[in-house]
Amino acid sequence: MKGLKTYVETHKNRFLDELISLLRLPSVSADSAYKKDTIVTAKFVANSLKDVGCDLVEICETAGYPIVYGEKIIDSKLPTILVYGHYDVQPPDPIELWDSPPFEPVIKKTELHPEGAIFARGACDDKGQMYMHVKALEFMTSTNQLPCNVKFMIEGEEEVGSDNLGLFVKENAKKLANDVILISDTGMISKDTPSITTGLRGLSYVEVEVTGPNRDLHSGIYGGAVANPINILSKMIASLHDDNNRITIPGFYDKVQELTNEERSAMAEAPFSLEAYKESLGIEAVFGEKGYTTNERNAIRPTLDVNGIWGGYTGEGAKTVIASKASAKISMRLVPNQDHHEITKLFQTHFENIAPKGVFVKVTPHHGGQSYVTPIDNTGYRAAARAYEATFGKTPIPQRGGGSIPIVALFEEILKSKTIMMGFGLDSDAIHSPNEHYGIFNYLKGIETIPLFYKYFVDLSQKNNSL
Ligand code: BES
Ligand code: MN
Ligand code: MN
Repeated sequence: MKGLKTYVETHKNRFLDELISLLRLPSVSADSAYKKDTIVTAKFVANSLKDVGCDLVEICETAGYPIVYGEKIIDSKLPTILVYGHYDVQPPDPIELWDSPPFEPVIKKTELHPEGAIFARGACDDKGQMYMHVKALEFMTSTNQLPCNVKFMIEGEEEVGSDNLGLFVKENAKKLANDVILISDTGMISKDTPSITTGLRGLSYVEVEVTGPNRDLHSGIYGGAVANPINILSKMIASLHDDNNRITIPGFYDKVQELTNEERSAMAEAPFSLEAYKESLGIEAVFGEKGYTTNERNAIRPTLDVNGIWGGYTGEGAKTVIASKASAKISMRLVPNQDHHEITKLFQTHFENIAPKGVFVKVTPHHGGQSYVTPIDNTGYRAAARAYEATFGKTPIPQRGGGSIPIVALFEEILKSKTIMMGFGLDSDAIHSPNEHYGIFNYLKGIETIPLFYKYFVDLSQKNNSL
């Protein structure tokens, strides 16, 4: 595409300033204290789509946060790309662990990013990655090189399970009709090793509550004679893994799709240093299911993790008490063929079954989502691979991601199109953690690579049609 590199180079400071303005808006979807700011963020995104030449931009109300829709249709005979992203972000806590305030973006140089990285909540997940698509469209419209139709659907509830987006997609399937869905909300292997995410894990998220006596008790007067809900909950949770770190819920692995040896050896070829991995996390050893490598454990194997646990006295000093209740939030990452509704039921039945007499157990399901895998023998994947080859000088490696974007499976089911995940984030970007950041290199490379996807997708689609 003509003038692409020069355009990005010429406008990079403005691209950064605009992203910084977007990052200043605290669009935390999980916390209603940020409601006003989240709605302002939707308007910001809508305006940015208008500014880069979308002919139709709508802020679509839902039962939750609005979905921003934008489109530029140049010719109904040409292919249509649907871009999905999210403008909501994770809560910033624990705030005290941030080196600079989460919603006051700053650019700092790091060892990995000598050219600088933007530090702010949402810098990578997903405002920075989503905004690359807006700026890529700006390049194509302002230089008259948009080769096909484009639709944007940017939601504000991804971090809380995308419940309303599912309904929106079902109700607007015609309007959202497309030839390929393009998402940048994942990562790549390293700064100089591009990869295309070919799979996402599913998710089942539950909250459990164990209730013992009808009130908090003196741990001396009653200790040893009644079930302590915290002791019981800890024991129940500990029993959910066996000595090989396999999950003990009956039926949990029944439908898990095992990879062939060929697939596993292909995965093992991706560059990875276990030493660097351990060092970056400050751990002496890795941990996980016996018989699988670290990269298999975090992408193609299911997991069960406690995300939070509470109960009893956690204030200053000591209080001798047996709490009446103990609770935990538990997530299970799922892999192809495991159905999240089914897994949630299996969990619930098992957890109720293992509760000893003397306590009462309540399991409350939260959100869930199905896993996703995409083949690589399709036009979208090939176009993405070519785009990376042009900007990185390397063929990208297909990589299964461990995270979840629950809506992707639904896209395929309802819109019947493939999703291509061109992620530009790095594992070290600290998404969902304090000091989240996004490399300026990654941001600008994304803006440069995306228009080439459009070009190659159109080229390859037309070639297919003429065969
Ligand atoms: N962008 C992430 C998902 C992701 C990150 C996938 C890196 C692959 C690599 C997304 O915003 C996210 O955080 N999803 C949640 C699920 C949601 C239901 C809360 C997740 O994976 O925990
Ligand atoms: Mn995300
Ligand atoms: Mn996220």
